[in-house]
Amino acid sequence: FKLPEIKNEPTMDYVPGSAEREQLMATVEEMSNKTYDIPLVINGREVRTGDIKEQLNPGKKSHVVCRYENAGPKEVEEAIEGTLAAKSKWESLPLYDRQAIFLRAADLIGKKYRYKLMAASMLGQGKNIWQAEIDAATESADFLRFNVKYSSEIYAQQPPCNAPGVWNRSEYRALEGFVYAVSPFNFTAIGVNLAAAPALMGNTVLWKPSAGAVLSNYIAFDVMREAGVPDGVIQFVPGNAAEMTKQVFDHPEFTSLHFTGSTFVFKNMWKQIAQNLDIYKSYPRIVGETGGKNYHLIHPTANLESAVNNTIRGAFEFQGQKCSACSRLYVPKSLWPQFREKLVAGVESIKQGPVTDPTNFMGPVINQAAFDKITNYIEYARNSSDSEIIAGGKYSDSEGFYIRPTVVVTTNPDFKLLKEEIFGPVVTTYVYDDAKLDETIELIGKTTPYGLTGAIFAEDRQAAVDLSARLLHTAGNFYINDKCTGAVVGQQPFGGSRASGTNDKPGSPSLLQRFISPRSIKENM
Ligand code: ALA
Repeated sequence: FKLPEIKNEPTMDYVPGSAEREQLMATVEEMSNKTYDIPLVINGREVRTGDIKEQLNPGKKSHVVCRYENAGPKEVEEAIEGTLAAKSKWESLPLYDRQAIFLRAADLIGKKYRYKLMAASMLGQGKNIWQAEIDAATESADFLRFNVKYSSEIYAQQPPCNAPGVWNRSEYRALEGFVYAVSPFNFTAIGVNLAAAPALMGNTVLWKPSAGAVLSNYIAFDVMREAGVPDGVIQFVPGNAAEMTKQVFDHPEFTSLHFTGSTFVFKNMWKQIAQNLDIYKSYPRIVGETGGKNYHLIHPTANLESAVNNTIRGAFEFQGQKCSACSRLYVPKSLWPQFREKLVAGVESIKQGPVTDPTNFMGPVINQAAFDKITNYIEYARNSSDSEIIAGGKYSDSEGFYIRPTVVVTTNPDFKLLKEEIFGPVVTTYVYDDAKLDETIELIGKTTPYGLTGAIFAEDRQAAVDLSARLLHTAGNFYINDKCTGAVVGQQPFGGSRASGTNDKPGSPSLLQRFISPRSIKENM
């Protein structure tokens, strides 16, 4: 059989007066007066624990977007047992039946639930319209659809040779046991993929969404149920991260961690899993996308206008809360005066405020802890003799968690803000001597332990080729004359190495390979 054509979900423009803008903003308006009540969902049943937490609207702290139940050990145990009970029926379904469910979910996201999912990401995670569109609406649907295409390609892989009288074949089994998916607040689509990708390959999944994204993740989960994901195949279980994780890793049927979040947490998880190796049936598959300290390197031949505009977008869209965000900027002395002038003017003109006003380019950061961490870095830069804040630097958490886009310049190539992940709207600039480009390339590779994204801006083709070769291991997603954010599923498989993750490339067949355990069959004829 032939799959339906798989294409990227078309993006919409939301120009003033358009039907899509009106419908979306009406949904935002309606949801901005509500507090949703979100249960755990275990084996298809709504479960209440009485341990109730709140997800706040980060742009307007007085608005509780949802109250949700936190799982305790009893519910986690029930969820795990439920995944195991649902497993054999689910994995024995033909692939096309599982594919049909996730294709239907993608269609539901693209059409029926697009605005609801976007509005939940806007109000709950502080996204403006276009950031919600490229995440909740299109990337979620794209992950679901492209995974279907890649799963067919994987299942089609068969041994190339048969000996006389022998028929060899490969069978693609799910992993034995259950998968633990732990998702972040910053992309609704990542949560969808962390749960759906292993499930598509026949696994059953305990999904722990981030406390900062419960509402949008629940809506996405509910869409997958409506599309036909059977009870127990994906369990929706918010809860205390450390306790739940320990309980999961202490279970002998734990078979895989599918994670996106901080490097620190991921390393700790890996160590816990390693401690428990003897109790597991198989070596667990550990798949993680973690931190970044991503760079834009401006070459002396760069197109100035484009380099500045892309830097503003790469550093400040969604308040810099992308693992891919540009947070290090290397500019040659020869371009710096003009670059600085344009950058500062562009940054100071950024309009920021609640997502209910679509003219705001930036919104709030996710919560108080993020606000405190980011503003500490800003104060560090303000008080350091090595650095200067040339734009932004102001903040307020009276209504919501608003931090102005901030540009720091440092004369110290080893400056703290060039090394550590801030995960907020702060970009730190190092102005390099044009004659010292070689040293700058070295610096980019060794200043941080990360290797997620990077971009070069150069009009000179030979320079672009050289930089690309010499920056080989500094970024798993490398951009030439474009910002270092915004990878599109089906176009630029995403992920990095070094301390940035296992680089299994969500949005590609490689990721799905991690969730299967092939069986080779030889049959004498
Ligand atoms: N995949 C997201 C991006 O490329 C994080 O910006």
